[in-house]
Amino acid sequence: MAQEDVFKKIVSHCKEYGFVFPSSEIYDGLGAVYDYGQYGVELKNNIKKYWWDSMTLLHENVVGIDSAIFMHPAIWKASGHVDAFNDPLIDNKDSKKRYRADVLIEDYLARIDEKTAKEVAKAAKRFGDAFDETQFRNTNPRVLEYQQERDEAHARFAKALNDSNLEELRQIIVDAEIVCPISGSRNWTEVRQFNLMFSTDMGSTSEGAMKVYLRPETAQGIFVNFLNVQKTGRMKIPFGIAQIGKAFRNEIVARQFIFRMREFEQMEMQFFIRPGEEMEWFDRWKETRMRWHKSMGLGDGKYRFHDHDKLAHYANAATDIEFEMPFGFKEVEGVHSRTDFDLSQHEKYSGRKIQYFDPELNKSYTPYVIETSIGVDRVFLSIISGSYCEETLDNGESRVVLKLPPALAPVKLAVLPLVKKDGLPEKAGEIIDRLRFDFRCQYDEKDSIGKRYRRQDAIGTPYCITVDHDTLEDNCVTIRFRDTMKQERVCIDKLNEIIAGKVNMKNLLKKITG
Ligand code: GAP
Repeated sequence: MAQEDVFKKIVSHCKEYGFVFPSSEIYDGLGAVYDYGQYGVELKNNIKKYWWDSMTLLHENVVGIDSAIFMHPAIWKASGHVDAFNDPLIDNKDSKKRYRADVLIEDYLARIDEKTAKEVAKAAKRFGDAFDETQFRNTNPRVLEYQQERDEAHARFAKALNDSNLEELRQIIVDAEIVCPISGSRNWTEVRQFNLMFSTDMGSTSEGAMKVYLRPETAQGIFVNFLNVQKTGRMKIPFGIAQIGKAFRNEIVARQFIFRMREFEQMEMQFFIRPGEEMEWFDRWKETRMRWHKSMGLGDGKYRFHDHDKLAHYANAATDIEFEMPFGFKEVEGVHSRTDFDLSQHEKYSGRKIQYFDPELNKSYTPYVIETSIGVDRVFLSIISGSYCEETLDNGESRVVLKLPPALAPVKLAVLPLVKKDGLPEKAGEIIDRLRFDFRCQYDEKDSIGKRYRRQDAIGTPYCITVDHDTLEDNCVTIRFRDTMKQERVCIDKLNEIIAGKVNMKNLLKKITG
C-alpha cells in the first residue's frame, strides 16, 4: 500500500476510534487545530507522564515548573521572537496557495533521496546476498548523478538559509523546477518573511490595553524563572528545569494532520551548565533523548539525527531527532545548545542581574543552556504511525491493530464475559473491581467475542480477559495477548502480576537507564 494511503488510513482511524477529532468539526473545522478524544487524551497523558518521569525521576538535578502562557511582551522582544521568529513564505499565483519556501526545497531533496533509495532497493533485490550497498552507491552512474544533484542543491539551500537570502531561496525553487502540487505550475511570487506569533490584547481599551503574545515556545517561561527556581530550590549547576505546556504558532503551511498545528503542546527542558562545557552536555543529552525514543520499541531504524542546516539565532549547535512518518523522516524533537543567549538577553531587557555564583569556581557567570524540546503531538503521531498494523489472519479475516507500547496504551485491559447471563457479567465486574486501582480497565459485553477483540485491537488494548462458565468453578480466565493473539488460561489472582509486568511505566524508564 502506498504510504500516502497508509497515512490517510491512520488519520481516519484516529477519528473513528476516538483518538483525534478536527477542532470545531460541526462548524467545518478550524485549520490545523485538533481535539483529542477519549482514547487520544489517555495516550497523550501517558506520553507526558513518561517524559516527565524520565526527566524528574531519573535526574535528581532536574525539577519541573508550570509557567503561564501569557508573559510580559518584552520577553518576546528579548528572546528575538518579535524580530526573528519568521518563516519564508512563497505563493503560487495560479492556485493562490501559500507554501514555506524552505519546506518546498526540503521536499524536493527528500524526493531525490527516495529515487536513490529505490535504485538501491532494486539492486539489492537483483544481486541478493552478494550486494554491496556502499560499492553500489559509490559507482552506480544514476545514483551518483542523483547524489550530485542533491549535494549541490543542499549546499545552496544551507547557504541561502544562513544568509537569510530570500531571492536565492526563490531561485533554488525555480532552478529545481519545483511545481505547485495543486496547480502544477511554476508561477511563483517572491519569497517574504512571515512572523509566526499570535497576539491578543490584555486589559480593557479604556485602561490602555497591552499587546501580548501567545507563547510560541514554553522555554521562555523557564528562562525568566531561572533565578526563582535556582534560589528557592538551592539548585547547583549543572541542573535542569522541565516544563510541559501549550505553544501557539501561526503556521503558514498547516498540513499533515497533527504534525504541524497552530496550537500544540511542548515538553521542554533547559539544562543550565558552565560555559565551555556545552559540547559535552549537548552530546550527552542527544544520546539520552535518543534512548528515550528508542525505548518505546517502535523500531530503532525509524529514528535518526539530523543536524540543522541553519542554526537558530540563539544556538551554537543543534540537531533534530527525526522519526520515519508515513510521509518521510520528520523532526520530532530538537536538541539545542542555546549558549547564554536567553539569560543574557533577559538580563539586558529586564535590568535584573541573572547570574549564578559557582562556589567551586568561586566566581559568578551567566550559565550556558542545553535545551531538549519535543512536541507531544508529534510523539503521539510517531507512536500511532509506528504502531498501526493491518493483518490478515489465518482464517482469512483481517484486523487493524495498534501495537502501542503497553505502558502507553490508553486502556490496559478489557474484561469480556463470554455471555451476558449466568452470572458472568457479575464475575467480570468483580475482576474489574480488583484491577481498576492499578490499571485503566474496560468492560464490554456487546457482540461476539471476536468483534470485541477487534474493537480492543483497534484502540491498542494489550490484554483481553475472557470470563466463561468455567471461571465460576475454577477462578481462572482466558487472557489474550494483543500482538500474538495467543491465549492462556490463568488464575484471577495472577492477573495483576502478569499485567503489571508489561504495562508498568517502570519498564520504559529502566530501558533508558540501561
Ligand atoms: N524551544 C525551542 C523550540 O521551540 P522548535 O524546533 O521550534 O524549538 C520544538 O520546536 C518541537 O516542538 C519540535 O521538534 C516539534 O516536535 C514541536 N513543534 C514545533 N512546531 C510545531 C507545530 N506547529 N505543531 C506541532 N508540533 C510542533
